Amino acid sequence: MTEQRPVSQTVTDAKAVKVPTLPDAQKITEVTHWTDRLFSFRVTRPASLRFRSGEFVMIGLMGEPDPKTGKQKPLLRAYSIASPSWDEELEFYSIKVQDGPLTSRLQHIQPGDELILRPKPVGTLVHDALLPGKRLWLFATGTGFAPFASLLRDPQTYEDYDEVIMTHTCREVGELTYGARLIESLKSDELMVELIGAENLGKLRYYPTTTREQSPKMGRITDLMRDGTVFRDLGVPQPTPGTDRAMVCGNLAFNLEIKEMLEGYGLEEGANSDPKHYVVEKAFLD
Ligand code: A2P
Repeated sequence: MTEQRPVSQTVTDAKAVKVPTLPDAQKITEVTHWTDRLFSFRVTRPASLRFRSGEFVMIGLMGEPDPKTGKQKPLLRAYSIASPSWDEELEFYSIKVQDGPLTSRLQHIQPGDELILRPKPVGTLVHDALLPGKRLWLFATGTGFAPFASLLRDPQTYEDYDEVIMTHTCREVGELTYGARLIESLKSDELMVELIGAENLGKLRYYPTTTREQSPKMGRITDLMRDGTVFRDLGVPQPTPGTDRAMVCGNLAFNLEIKEMLEGYGLEEGANSDPKHYVVEKAFLD
């Protein structure tokens, strides 16, 4: 009898106080708004969380209370971790969708706020899913740059290849800034140069393009590959299964189109359990 009391008291108290305690809560440490459609944020890293660069985790906020029961459920989405596996915090790069269930709220987060983060990283954009090769192509559109922001800061990305080509296609020039800054920082940040090595960083080529605003290189990467522009610009041959490996992360239409092109070059899709020539993951779009 005496044992039942505290239990019912707790329930009564919880109802009265209604303080939602977030499961797997982490704290936001920094928020950067890049454009009116894009932002990035950093959060504390759970001490037990180990991940491979390129993987994603489920993150989110507590949903609105159910009108009938008053119960709240976490509203979670898969987000690529944009920080490298050695970083003491975690970074994420996100779109803002005004009526998106999660990002309409997530875009207002501030340092000090809490975020739910399930510490179970998974994903296919990992080195283990690719066979050894000479040239690594990283193809991104929009926020699909996120997993590559992690991989580009991982020394293994350069150690495994002679050449690393990062392509990023966005609608507007401002949407390239997050990626462009990151690439700049690899070469200007002393810590990065020391960690990755100047010789390794010399292997990196960056090929940004825009589709709806004037920039030095206009057009969808798929079209620029089809007509040979990319290969002429970079002085490299079309991908072949003997030398080339690729990782793809972008919107669904892009993923499907480039997958078909890579298959056309003879590359086959790999997985963690069956490494091959290329891997694909969908960028998060709320
Ligand atoms: P476009 O402006 O021609 O649609 P979004 O912001 O809609 O996710 O798009 C990001 C970028 O991906 C845009 O530059 C967009 O070009 C491009 N894109 C969309 N679909 C494809 C596709 N099937 N192949 C190549 N690029 C694409």
